[in-house]
Amino acid sequence: CGIVGYLSYFCPRDRQYVLDTVLNGLSRLEYRGYDSAGIAYDGNTPDETRIIKQVGKVSALKKLVKEQEKDVDFVYQSQFSMAHTRWATHGEPTTSNAHPHRSDSNNTFTVIHNGIVTNYKEIKTVLENKGVKFQTDTDTEVVTKLIKYIYDSQRGRKLEFHRLVKATCRELEGANAFIFKSIHYPNEIVVFRRGSPLMIGIKTDKNLDIDFVDVEFSNDVEISDNKNDIVPDVSAKRAQNHLHSAIGGDNQSIEYFFSSDSSAIIEHTKKVLFLEENDIAHISAKGDLRIHHFQREEGMSSIRSIKTLEMELAEIMKGSFPHFMLKEIYEQPESVFNTLRGRVDFKNNVVTLGGLRSHLSSIRRCRRIVFCACGTSYHSCIATRNIFEELTEIPVSLELASDFLDRQSPIFRDDVCVFVSQSGETADTIMALKYCLQRGALCVGVTNTVGSTISRDTHCGVHINAGPEIGVASTKAYTSQYLALVMMALQLSEDRSSMVERRKEIIQGLRGLPDKIKEVLKLDEQIKAISGSGLHKEKSLLILGRGFNTATSLEGALKIKELAYIHCEGIQAGELKHGPLALIDEHIPIILIITKDCHHSKSISALQQVLARKGQPIILCNTDDKEIPQGYTTIRIPSTVDCLNGILAIIPLQLLSYHLAVSNGVDVDFPRNLAKSVTVE
Ligand code: G6P
Repeated sequence: CGIVGYLSYFCPRDRQYVLDTVLNGLSRLEYRGYDSAGIAYDGNTPDETRIIKQVGKVSALKKLVKEQEKDVDFVYQSQFSMAHTRWATHGEPTTSNAHPHRSDSNNTFTVIHNGIVTNYKEIKTVLENKGVKFQTDTDTEVVTKLIKYIYDSQRGRKLEFHRLVKATCRELEGANAFIFKSIHYPNEIVVFRRGSPLMIGIKTDKNLDIDFVDVEFSNDVEISDNKNDIVPDVSAKRAQNHLHSAIGGDNQSIEYFFSSDSSAIIEHTKKVLFLEENDIAHISAKGDLRIHHFQREEGMSSIRSIKTLEMELAEIMKGSFPHFMLKEIYEQPESVFNTLRGRVDFKNNVVTLGGLRSHLSSIRRCRRIVFCACGTSYHSCIATRNIFEELTEIPVSLELASDFLDRQSPIFRDDVCVFVSQSGETADTIMALKYCLQRGALCVGVTNTVGSTISRDTHCGVHINAGPEIGVASTKAYTSQYLALVMMALQLSEDRSSMVERRKEIIQGLRGLPDKIKEVLKLDEQIKAISGSGLHKEKSLLILGRGFNTATSLEGALKIKELAYIHCEGIQAGELKHGPLALIDEHIPIILIITKDCHHSKSISALQQVLARKGQPIILCNTDDKEIPQGYTTIRIPSTVDCLNGILAIIPLQLLSYHLAVSNGVDVDFPRNLAKSVTVE
């Protein structure tokens, strides 16, 4: 799910602007889910909140808002709106289950929410026993009823809004981010983060030269002097806890943007503040931002820095491409170059990943490395395990985050756990990270998102620098993750004299990759023709690969499943004779990946086994491979060093899945039932 909110003070913004701001922001978050969407915004008086919801994509909501909201010129001293795009977890994707949720028909409390309240059934039962009635099946509605229940139970007192939210969130379990609005607290907003990302963008009409905001710890917890606080550098300018006052207060205009990630904010401001776990941010009726925290935890910083985003809006626009996915496939020469940039000394054959430098000796001493990830990111781990083990001689185990947690697998202090995630926000991977941190393992993050939970909560890590990836099906992140992991193995093995020649061969191979990717992209027309020759109508498809291309077959199959809605199985060619051979005949479409490496002869023998059963394979092979028999469709890619083959070999399969999806009429960037970033367990 994605959430976005907007609140302005002393800005002459009409309602049209306020609605457009959140709805356009929501479109940028649509990759996080698109089953249904909704918006809540200020009415014509401070005690009126309006809500509009719609099933389907954000465009459907935009249309409905346009039809229903006529008072577009309305200007009020402060203007608020918040919106949500949903990926259904609890309850079907219906209008009533869509967010925002409300406590009652007056919209006394309105809430949008990303995550899952895992104990919502227990809370619901308690509230039902007290006579509270529910209208939806969602966990979020429980939160709206709970906050109202606590508010109504105050007997004459009136808790400040952030204290009320705190009393509510104290009861909730699970990983969540919320925006709360109430007609009891006009012009105020409270947001809360625990386990799901939330950031605040800040825009003022004068230069915001403030570097950080203090955190206020709860009054009911004793505050001790914490030696671990990050000491800001002396030149840093402090907003203390009153951000609006610090820039001039009262009639000074200020706008706040709340979002699950920066893509919804970037077009308005680059100044952002990332909330930490258990932070409650409160914007008062005067426009002041204060950050409160549940309680002081060991080692916690008492400031939240205001950071400057480095991303450009153009990076998250489609440009002339019909779909983000195609744009991202075509960006790979550049994204791969950016992963390499500044990190490889081709003259001296040295790779330096700055984020790992201070932990290299601990990593080298570990007893095993555990790779942990989900989906495509997991495939990048499979793809690089061979070379990792070869170069480092450290055993590498592979873990799907969800399965790892199910098994509660043993983890020790001398393990190194590597968490690979494009978004850095996948709930399963984050939970696995927490599990390993608790057990004292050294945790390394490999992500594409600066400031994401995984990049912040790991001890050290690598940013893959692929640039924002919007298409739900991951493409350029895969090739950059793959490359980053190879680079990590190269850096870790630089002290091993037996590996000098092998490392040199690979490092020199890295240099040519961007140009070779450009060569592979020239195959697009041929691949489109293959897709158009009836393949899109098939019910089932097999992809065979082995060694360095085991992962290519699995990742190619995943792309075809998620995009073309065709059953597709990636099969390790070595396993062919142990079962899958029974599927082979002249009818079933098969793609065989055979690249020139130490597994070549075995791959050729898999080809022979397929041909002996009258199989009609499409063969993905190297341009200079003369051993491929005539008479079969071939897709020929340039050769590179064995362990880098998978970077080139996946691209034709990405293109194939794209064209199959287009032929099958799939909304390529938004395949059904999926979300780019699954922020729930
Ligand atoms: C979702 C996406 C996949 C992605 C996986 C892991 O399932 O649909 O494309 O590979 O999450 O995401 P991450 O951001 O952790 O790499």
